[in-house]
Amino acid sequence: MDTAALKQTWSLAQSLGDEVPLFFYSHLFLTHPELRSMFPVSMATQRDRLVGALGRIVSSVDELDEVTDFIQQLGRDHRRFEVIAAHYNAVGASLLATLKHFLGEGWTPEVAADWADAYGVIASVMVQAAEASEDSSPSSWPAEVTAVERRGLDVSVIQVRPDPHLPFQPGQSVAVEIPARPRLWRYLSPANAPRSDGSIEFHVQMVPGGQVSSTMVRSLHVGETVRLGAPVGQELTLDEDERHRDLTMVAGGTGLAPLRAHLERIDQEWQSTGQAPRVQLFHGARLPWSLYENRLLQNLAGRPWFTYTPVVSDDPSYPGRKGLVGDVAADTGPLHGRLALVCGSPQMVRHTVSRLRARGIAHADVRFEQFATLDEDSHAAHHHTHDPQSSRLPHGE
Ligand code: HEM
Repeated sequence: MDTAALKQTWSLAQSLGDEVPLFFYSHLFLTHPELRSMFPVSMATQRDRLVGALGRIVSSVDELDEVTDFIQQLGRDHRRFEVIAAHYNAVGASLLATLKHFLGEGWTPEVAADWADAYGVIASVMVQAAEASEDSSPSSWPAEVTAVERRGLDVSVIQVRPDPHLPFQPGQSVAVEIPARPRLWRYLSPANAPRSDGSIEFHVQMVPGGQVSSTMVRSLHVGETVRLGAPVGQELTLDEDERHRDLTMVAGGTGLAPLRAHLERIDQEWQSTGQAPRVQLFHGARLPWSLYENRLLQNLAGRPWFTYTPVVSDDPSYPGRKGLVGDVAADTGPLHGRLALVCGSPQMVRHTVSRLRARGIAHADVRFEQFATLDEDSHAAHHHTHDPQSSRLPHGE
């Protein structure tokens, strides 16, 4: 397989902009109208989530070894759309038809065969992972909302109880769909370590103009049932052998959630064994009242293993640390030998990661989730849609 040709043809297709997803979806829905209802009602091409990712992933088939876990998670996660194996034929045919349409003479029999092979490889990894999870997990988890607490102006802390329990690791995310916004899924990270009653806490920040996040913050209420997808994400999880490492955590806004899940797990361990790594958390917000977990974190700072530094960027009268959280963490944080976990808006993550690296912290020791800037809501302070364009495939930032 000529993987250079795959990448080349994909970058050509990408340079054509919105025309490409427009053609793809028209082709898919004309040839398979039964698939239309799986997608959001409004399919403005600038919010395309599938086609861009599809082309990128398939044309990066040569990196499969490094991203197999991700592709498997993606396959399991796709069960929430009620995708079955046969649908992969439909999507593959529309992908090839789209490329053929735009590549003209560049669509040689060799290139066509390579795309077909590469798509087949990726699709079969996804399908097999989805099928293997069928016996042990539902296609999505209904979860009753048991509490909604508005914190400050634009953040809600939401408790849900999935039935059955949804297993996840601290640092992972799950896609969430609310009844008022069908099929507009958003990835959120549990802010807690797994609990015996299976309940999960989410932190949601309202994004101006974001139709899902603002509905979640303003209108979601107790008793409603949301749906959750399979857990995804590996960048912010910690392996067994990493759990003893000292950590520097840097969070912007609700990017705190996955880090707080780690804090909860570490505290449980400390309470039962007396052992814990040292952890310093920097939590950044524009304004002091957006430090929505201040009280809990101040309390936790009574633990010998934990240091908490709130940082405010836009209020000159704030008596504590002022500035960008990435600057404060890089300038004052203990970094030597530490593992850094970074989560926040795309700009915050980019800035923090570059500042930490400039301080000499090894690339592999700075962990962060990347973000798609595919639609308005993906700017939601932490939310990291799982766009493989970025950190999941090695050509991320
Ligand atoms: C190799 C095959 C495929 C790959 C690599 C792939 C990849 C992706 C990715 C990365 C996303 C974005 C996830 C998100 O941010 O929520 C996505 C979304 C989606 N995919 Fe797939 N997918 C594949 C096949 C399929 C198939 C066969 C179907 C079934 C028709 C499907 C239906 C969807 C739907 C409905 C969405 C959500 C679209 C939206 O919200 O606008 N995918 N896919």
